[in-house]
Formats: sequence, C-alpha cells, structure tokens
Amino acid sequence: MVGIHETLTQNVRRMYERFPYPNYPLFIPLRWQEAYASSSVFCQNIAGNPNATQSPKSILIAGCGDVQPYILSKIEPRNQNIIAVDISERSLRRAQKRVMFCWNKPTLICEDLRAFLSTQPGQSFEHMECYGVLHHLSEPTKVLHEMARVLVPGGSCRMMVYNSAARSWMRSLSRAMRLLGFDYNNAQSLTEAKEFLEALKKTSAVFESRLGSLGPKTIKRSARLVDTFFHEREVNQGLEYWLNAIHKAKLVPKGLYDRYAELDDLPNPMYHFPNRQQLNERIADKRFENNFELYLSKPAAEQTSLTSNKNSIKPLHLYTKDAPKAWFDYTETKSIPFWLRQRIWHMHIQMFYVDSQRLDYGLFDKLEKTSIQRLARIGAFGAHLITQDRLKDLMLRPMADSMEPPDPPSHSDSDMEQVTLLVRSVLKDKQQLDPRRIELILSRLRQAQS
Ligand SMILES: C[S@@+](CC[C@H](N)C(=O)[O-])C[C@H]1O[C@@H](n2cnc3c(N)ncnc32)[C@H](O)[C@@H]1O
Repeated sequence: MVGIHETLTQNVRRMYERFPYPNYPLFIPLRWQEAYASSSVFCQNIAGNPNATQSPKSILIAGCGDVQPYILSKIEPRNQNIIAVDISERSLRRAQKRVMFCWNKPTLICEDLRAFLSTQPGQSFEHMECYGVLHHLSEPTKVLHEMARVLVPGGSCRMMVYNSAARSWMRSLSRAMRLLGFDYNNAQSLTEAKEFLEALKKTSAVFESRLGSLGPKTIKRSARLVDTFFHEREVNQGLEYWLNAIHKAKLVPKGLYDRYAELDDLPNPMYHFPNRQQLNERIADKRFENNFELYLSKPAAEQTSLTSNKNSIKPLHLYTKDAPKAWFDYTETKSIPFWLRQRIWHMHIQMFYVDSQRLDYGLFDKLEKTSIQRLARIGAFGAHLITQDRLKDLMLRPMADSMEPPDPPSHSDSDMEQVTLLVRSVLKDKQQLDPRRIELILSRLRQAQS
C-alpha cells in the first residue's frame, strides 16, 4: 500500500516534472555572481571556519532545480566535486543542458533526497546547499537529520525555508484559487488563473501591494505561479519548528541573511544569529517577513580546516564579472558609482577567495559608514575577516535604534465589492454560481487581505 509520505512525494515530483523551477529560458545569460551568498567558500566563512579560503571539496546541492547546478559550477572554485540531487528528471535534463560548457560539471542525480541521503556513507559532504526545498518534503525534519549525518564536522549548510507566518495571505489566496476551480495541470485554466490575479491586483491597494511585492514574474511565469500558489506540499510551520529541527539535527545556526533590511536594530545577523525571542517578536508584528535564509554549521570537536587544500584553484574568473546588482538596491548603497562598485566586488573576491590578509583598507575611506554597514550585513564584506577593530565593530553593530512594524493593511467595503464582482464573473463563466462556494471564496480573500 502506498503511504501518505510516498503519495506527497510523488505529487511534488509530478508538479516539478511539469514545471521545473525556476525554469529560466535556457539560452539567456544568467548573472550568476548574484548568487555569491550560496558559494561554499562564502558559507564556510559565515559558518565560522576561518580556513574556508581553502574551500571545501565535496558539495551537495539538495533539491537543485534546473538552474543551481549551473550557478554553483560557475561560482565555485574549479576543483570542487559538486553533486546535485533532484527528484525531477525534467529539471535535471534542463540543468544538464546548462552545464554543457562548464569546466566544473556537477554530477546530476535524479532521486528522492531522503533515499539518496540514506545510501550515503557517513560524513561525505563538506558543504550543502538546500534552498527552498525542505518545506516541500513530506518529512523535512528527518531529511534534515540525514543531511546533518552526512555532513563532516566543521561542515556548513545554507538552507532557506519559508517564514510561514509571512505567507499566510498567500495560503488564503491559494485556497481561494483552488475553490475558484483553477487547475495548474490545465494550460487554459492556468492562463485564467494568471488573468484572475492580474484583475485581483486592481481591486484593492492591499492586493496590489501584496501581489506586487512578489515581482511581476511570479504571475507571468508559470513555474513561479505554480510554485507559489498551487504547490502540492507546503509545510505550514514557523520558526520554532525549524529551529528545533536544526537543534535536533545537532546543527548550529550561525548566520541569517537579512535580505530586506528588516533587522537593522540587531547586531549584524550574518555573524550574530538573533535569538529566538528577538526573531519571534519581529515575526509576530510583521517587522520580519523574509523567509529564513540560514547558515548552519556542524560543530567539530576542534577547529578543523576541512580538506585543507592549499592548491585550491582560485575562482579568479569572478574578477571578470561586474558586481552583484542586488548589493546596490538599498538606500545606503544605491548612489555608489560604478567604478566603486567594482572595487567593492574585487574586495569581496580578495577577502573570501584569495587572501584576506592583504586587503586595501583605503577602499573603506571612500564609502559612507552606513554603506559599509549595509554591505557587511549582506555579506559583501566579511566582517570577521577585518583586522581593524573600529571597522569590524562598525560592520557588526546595529544600524538602527529600533524598527517600526508596518501599518496594518486597510481595505474598504468598496474594495470587497470589486473583489466580489470579480469572483462572480469567474464563477459565472464556469457556471458555478453556488452561494456557499462564493461565501467561502470571499472569506478566503478577506483573510488574504488582512
Ligand atoms: C522551489 S524548487 C528550488 C530549486 C532550487 N533549490 C533553487 O533554489 O532554484 C524545489 C526543488 O526541490 C525538488 N524536490 C522536491 N521534493 C524533492 C525530493 N523529495 N527529493 C529531491 N528533490 C526534491 C524539486 O524538484 C525542485 O526542483
């Protein structure tokens, strides 16, 4: 008999067979330097291994999708052994095409992650990347446990899991869409779902802002739309669940990527992991709405240098790229001129990959203090690699005295009238104008606005 876990896993597999993620077109150039925070060298540094410049050699991408194998093969030093596992064969076929001309070709394995891990002998990997995957698994805590088992002591793991509290509006909207009869397996229905969301955006400022915050591509691109609103499995668990799972797996959270600058009143969270209470309070009043992008380490009895590889081939090709655009999207960094952006990028490469002992500290004189702080909080600068105490302190301390929670969303009765009209018109086309169904859908849509 097929159990619930097997059924869930197979449903998820079918979904990603149909909609590989993120499914960017195969031949557009990808700005892989934007993924600097997923490089094993970077993660090792954040997870507290000062010898990380020597870079780990065996890396697992757990649930790699169709793009990460390419991105990591570009950003990693050349002598890494990258193993990329995914349950979706189609995703891996696409990944295979992307890495065709890469030097550092990852080994691609099509298997359920848990089954793959259970066949690994102990302590096989020095770094793991698991981004946006665990919350889609049928038994995430068991898989995390297995991941920790095959990680070497002193090894690192970057994982991203959903902040379920911040996604409650998406879950309500997703239920409403299912009640409206949209079916992602049917191309026509998926197009209608996109049209519905575009129309919904125009009914109220709340929907406009919430759907707008997902970016235009989430509605337009089917892979993203399905991943966001039609997922076959999304664990609805909050911070406590994930921190407990990490703790039980005997991993230690070392850093948190504060992508949206929501934790500026705390010491730099990339290097000082906020405590539970600090995070829970901020999640409860919506000061913190990002997903949990965490850097974990597996403690070692003593400081290890992992596979200390003095002959590591430095990824000097990074110098040929321009700086990650995302670094300069912040108030404190957006006016930094192009030439200085490039110097910051080169400093990043020097710090993390080449030789942190030989840095040109003159660069910091050209930057505002707040720019230095912001850049250190997103990992452009490695605060722990800085030898000047005052500069290091600047990079580590809070940037703000306090952070205000956002204003509660306000929506009027007339907004709800617009929503009702929209819902009725969709159901009329489907000849499903059943009052009970309409009421259920509207109640979900009210929740999605609150
Ligand atoms: C949201 S995507 C993330 C992909 C990639 N990590 C990224 O950030 O682009 C989730 C991925 O996990 C894979 N996945 C889901 N369940 C899995 C399982 N049980 N075993 C292995 N991979 C799985 C899916 O096929 C999909 O490619």
